[in-house]
Amino acid sequence: MRKKSISFIFASLCLWGVITYFLFLDRPIGREYNKDNIEGQIDDIEKKVKQQFAENKKFIQALKHNLKDQKKSKDAISAILVQNLDNNEPAKELVDKMDRQPRPIPDQEKNRKQVDEIKHTVSDKFLPNGNPVIAVLVFSCNRITVQRCLDQLISLRPSAEQFPIIVSQDCDHEPTSTIIQSYGEQITHIRQPDQRDIDVPPKEKKFKGYFKIARHYGWALNQVFLEFGYETAIVVEDDLDVAPDFFEYFSGTYPLLMRDSTLWCISAWNDNGKSELIDENGHDLLYRTDFFPGLGWMLTKDTWMELGPKWPKSYWDDWIRKPEQRKDRACIRPELSRTMTFGKIGVSNGLFFEKHLRFIKLNDVFVPFTKMNLTYLLKDNYDMAFVNEVYRSRVVNYTELKKDAIQNPGPVRITYHTRQAYKNTAKMLGLMDDFRSGVPRTSYRGVVTFFYKGRRVHLAPNANWAGYDITWS
Ligand code: UD1
Ligand code: MN
Repeated sequence: MRKKSISFIFASLCLWGVITYFLFLDRPIGREYNKDNIEGQIDDIEKKVKQQFAENKKFIQALKHNLKDQKKSKDAISAILVQNLDNNEPAKELVDKMDRQPRPIPDQEKNRKQVDEIKHTVSDKFLPNGNPVIAVLVFSCNRITVQRCLDQLISLRPSAEQFPIIVSQDCDHEPTSTIIQSYGEQITHIRQPDQRDIDVPPKEKKFKGYFKIARHYGWALNQVFLEFGYETAIVVEDDLDVAPDFFEYFSGTYPLLMRDSTLWCISAWNDNGKSELIDENGHDLLYRTDFFPGLGWMLTKDTWMELGPKWPKSYWDDWIRKPEQRKDRACIRPELSRTMTFGKIGVSNGLFFEKHLRFIKLNDVFVPFTKMNLTYLLKDNYDMAFVNEVYRSRVVNYTELKKDAIQNPGPVRITYHTRQAYKNTAKMLGLMDDFRSGVPRTSYRGVVTFFYKGRRVHLAPNANWAGYDITWS
């Protein structure tokens, strides 16, 4: 029995062993568990790789942004550096010094705020106080004297919000860029990107400068009106001095430009503004003129939308004076110029500057135009009064005027009937004697109004005048 039970136990143990062995060997749960483990690990790895990829992507994007921001802020940083340097150092040295300075890491938060601020200003056509926002577009190229112009504009503007200054630079002239940058956030500096040589017809080779100016004007005005979205702009060139009431003049005349569709510009310039030809006490006198004066002038986005698409390749100012562009519209001009050019060396001949431009008198008395009633300049009011004054005035001849032999006070008139007669009289009196598209400088309805020996004089065609003759040149 004992033997039997031992062998029974032994056999049972063996059987249990065999069963257990097979049970373990064939255990499906175990196989499942192993498979799960590997796939889970693969999933984990995949997840981690994906995560890493996303992080890398983010990192690369951040890097790219950072590089862009650094590029943008490089200019701003240069400006700050220049401000801290001695202004008397030659420009080349300034630039070299700048390049040696370590570049601080840009403050992204600050940059973003600045962009928001610019957007905010631009979208506001009027400030909360009701004043219109008027951009001041300054054209510059390679003259560091742009500083003279910018200093005046910045110190005279009543508000940076109302008159944001945009300096557009052509010519990639580094010393000039350095100067412009030195104004930092007081201005916005933009650069005309197309510096390729211009194909100019052989005959006009010496006028290439005018082609460059026109290209620059077209680009910059598009920037101001289409990119920045301003509604009104004053165009200034880098060689202009401005009068103390420059901004007041444009603010005061702004409503006229808005209200009167027969006006397309307000100009600060009197082409016949020499001391001998103006009433030096007539600081507040303003006129309408059919001749586009330029040299510090205000226009609206609407006018630019009309001119921009057909903008010419050269001689933009003479082009604008053509009947197809002017469409019988006039500008406002002052008796005393609110600008004056000091650009003896420039694209046009310095002779014109020596003979004429340098004698134009710059106004020096502040006139509160915004507080004055200027509605007399609206066409409906002006033309009647003007025609009345001109054609009721006594006719005199040049000799009488010259000798100051006229007895009665009040305005007088000298008549002209031919192109040559106009030119002769103009020359003798010291007036500009040229025409553009048949229009004499400062003329309104064919009449050139000026001041001579203490008296108002109108150099005028017949009262039955039929319009400008574009063949007069
Ligand atoms: C004259 C006119 C000017 C007009 C120009 C074009 C006078 C006193 N001036 O220029 O109002 O715009 O003809 O018909 O009548 N510039 C560039 N790129 C260049 C060269 C110049 O943008 O390659 C800029 C200058 O910085 C300046 C403007 O164009 O702001 C006029 O140049 P300037 O050299 O002063 O020429 P003017 O003979 O005075
Ligand atoms: Mn000039």
